[in-house]
Amino acid sequence: MLRTTLACIAALILSTELASAADAVRGEQRFKAMCATCHAVDPAQKKMGPHVKGIVGRKAASLAGASYSPAMKASGWTWDAAKLDQYLADPKKALPGTSMLIGVSNAQDRADIIAYLATLK
Ligand code: HEC
Repeated sequence: MLRTTLACIAALILSTELASAADAVRGEQRFKAMCATCHAVDPAQKKMGPHVKGIVGRKAASLAGASYSPAMKASGWTWDAAKLDQYLADPKKALPGTSMLIGVSNAQDRADIIAYLATLK
């Protein structure tokens, strides 16, 4: 009985993990569609927003030469998956005064985009 219950729980965890697993390949497509107008993945390329190479683990507003809002400079944030998720969901709400105005309302899109960003080392 206990064994069956445990097997059920394991199967359940596995299936929810599969359903919500972040997909970096899909994330790259989403990034190209939703972010690439303003963000380069190549540091040599200049766009309106800061480049996102190495963004996971990077301190917010830490790129020399990029233009950041006073709010971003004062945030004291370091970009990990949770911070990215919070910011991308609703930038203006997460960081009042930010100059990035468009967010990503779909949680799966955010998870996929963040999985892709994590590959940009
Ligand atoms: C219309 C242009 C635009 C779009 C589209 C855009 N961003 Fe931004 N992004 C900006 C600007 C401008 C900033 C600087 C914000 C600030 O300083 O307050 C920024 C900042 C950021 C930062 C912080 C960078 C750092 O160095 O601290 C991240 C992370 C980010 N954007 C991710 C994304 C992602 C992911 C997407 C796509 C879902 C996206 N952005 C879409 C313009 C944009």
